[in-house]
Amino acid sequence: MKSSPLAGFILVLAFASRLNSTAAASPIYEDAAAPLETRVEDLLSRLTLEEKIAIVHADSKFTTAAIPRLGMPRRWLDDGPHGVREDIGPDTWNAAGRTDDFSTAMPAGICLAATWNPDLGFSEGEAIGQEARARGKDIMLGPGVNILRTPLCGRNFEYLGEDPWLSGAMCTGYIRGEQSQDISSCVKHFALNNQEFERGTINVEVDERALREIYLPAFQAAVQQGGVWSVMGAYNQLRGQHCCENDYLLNKILKEEWGFKGLVMSDWDGAHDTRECALNGLDLEMGTEKKYEDYYLAQPYLNLIKAGELPAAGLDEKVRRNLRVMFATHVFDAGRKTGSLNTAAHQAVARRVAEEGIVLLKNEGGTLPLEVAKLKTIAVIGENATRLHAHGGDSSGIKAFYEINPFAGIVSRVGKKVNVIYSEGYAKDGGADLAERAVAAAKAADAVIYIGGLNHDKGFDCEGADRKDMKLPYDQNELIRKIVAANPKTIVVLEGTMVEMDAWLDKVPALVQAWYPGMEGGNALAGVLFGDVNPSGKLPATFPKMLADSPAHASGNAPGNYPGTNGTVTYAEGLLVGYRWYDTKHIEPQFPFGFGLSYTTFEYANLKLIPGDGSNALVTAQFDLKNTGNRAGAEVAQLYVHEQNPALPRPEKELKGFKKVFLQPGETRTVAIPLNRGAFSYYDPARKSWVAQPDVFEIEAGSSAGDIRLHDQFTLAGK
Ligand code: BGC
Repeated sequence: MKSSPLAGFILVLAFASRLNSTAAASPIYEDAAAPLETRVEDLLSRLTLEEKIAIVHADSKFTTAAIPRLGMPRRWLDDGPHGVREDIGPDTWNAAGRTDDFSTAMPAGICLAATWNPDLGFSEGEAIGQEARARGKDIMLGPGVNILRTPLCGRNFEYLGEDPWLSGAMCTGYIRGEQSQDISSCVKHFALNNQEFERGTINVEVDERALREIYLPAFQAAVQQGGVWSVMGAYNQLRGQHCCENDYLLNKILKEEWGFKGLVMSDWDGAHDTRECALNGLDLEMGTEKKYEDYYLAQPYLNLIKAGELPAAGLDEKVRRNLRVMFATHVFDAGRKTGSLNTAAHQAVARRVAEEGIVLLKNEGGTLPLEVAKLKTIAVIGENATRLHAHGGDSSGIKAFYEINPFAGIVSRVGKKVNVIYSEGYAKDGGADLAERAVAAAKAADAVIYIGGLNHDKGFDCEGADRKDMKLPYDQNELIRKIVAANPKTIVVLEGTMVEMDAWLDKVPALVQAWYPGMEGGNALAGVLFGDVNPSGKLPATFPKMLADSPAHASGNAPGNYPGTNGTVTYAEGLLVGYRWYDTKHIEPQFPFGFGLSYTTFEYANLKLIPGDGSNALVTAQFDLKNTGNRAGAEVAQLYVHEQNPALPRPEKELKGFKKVFLQPGETRTVAIPLNRGAFSYYDPARKSWVAQPDVFEIEAGSSAGDIRLHDQFTLAGK
């Protein structure tokens, strides 16, 4: 059939008008195929001044306002590093009381770091990202990468240990995994939030080298390798200026030097002044204890812009950064990932992180693994055996879908074949005959599994308070001594972060560090104790013999070094944090950084330094790693660098690479760890840059900072 010219004309008109209306209905910012920056600029150009202001501050405890006119949904933020926290009421810190906000509780950050497995970091981030999407979140407040400076810091359990390289590698994997799910991670707390004491006000004085070489690299890795989209400022001050409005940290280093394009948000109630927030790099104000319209970046900011006292361009830049994060996480796009919650796959990740993060610290005479067939009765002793930890620790706590405590894990592992008796042993408020009953239980058993340590109670691994000392609380030292006297086959398992160990350490044949191992922790621990899992965790922080040995507490524990005097804490130890301190000062730790035993043994051989190929690596350290025992297992091979004649003092050695290698019995693999220029560099404050000077460098491969197996020299020639 032939159509008339008029009909054709009408058709063309209709098509053209449809095109027009499509263009009107679909602005560029809504076009998922348009370049991200084009979308940002397009949406920015459509916002009123008031709408822009709404984007840079909260409208409830964990949200920012929607702009329905432009199809912009409310943004939901949530803690935290170990999973998706339960929902909080809009205007209080009380739980919202929902029944659909249970989620997978991953082990604490320090346990993840102890896996030394960046691939697991990715898996954990990915799982949390999926759960965050399923719970309708946009930005997740983690990972936390503050360096462990003092064992006393209340939040060490959330962070990734004492080493910048390890923290950087682990957070990079986590961020990539989480952000692959259309969620923005938010690395925190930038920077120098290394103690909880006076955290909201304490002023940190730190020299430039320590800042650059110790405290910033993990953040830099998060930005430049992880591609993190959000950064949370810290509560404390650096050199007299609050970190959430710190020109040097936020404008100069993060944005100018590192090229960070995403948004900086305040910690909750970490903003203090409109002008400083406006000018010094804060892009989103959260948690201020004021009415939302009175936030520093709300009405007061608007007023100053309208009065011409603050530039409107500054606000545009903040909005741009917020929009970038929205587009990067596909907030406006139909195909945005929708995630999944409480899946078996996520639970399996929680279990693997715990299995690989639990550290075997002592194992005399093959005490572990225990053999079910050889046991009739086990006494499980200690409050931590039955205590649940996932919900503890404040903002990083998780309303776990379920949680297997150590006792449940052990009982389920041994089944009916072994009689498991439980004795609490100690309690917060004491208790008349707890210790006596525990000793009686120990006497009646073939083996004792003591499960103690810290527990997230106030002052024992929590937010807002440091520990007072590094001792085991609740008279546990005395209790363990009594128990091991009653039954020499006593295996001590400690949860929480590091503690001083006393005379019992020589008496107990086996010691396991289990951190806070998450919702599958009990199963993972039982797997390690009974040999289904060959432990492969390594300490992400040195365990000193006593607090006074540690860098922030040595030199007669000058209070200025910790916790600070008159509101200022001075990092007098400078660069010498963690093993850098113990090695350089020749102080023998209880257990060195990077240490952890296995049920098998590994041999290192044939170190070769292979010259760079013109790409990034100046040299590649290559060596053979062999499993010389009769069980499959994994070793974390660590590579340290020592400069022979440094122009400025350098630590005895510095970790510059590692690889976790899984080996069958008898299997050998060649490990190759590339070292680029950065591996040889130090920060030179005079030149304001990183410098790798021509020199001879010792390249050391080993099983821990205290156990170097191979070394060779590399000469870095002049240009
Ligand atoms: C903590 C942050 C946390 C925020 C929101 C603050 O007290 O320092 O780590 O993300 O609260 O809960």
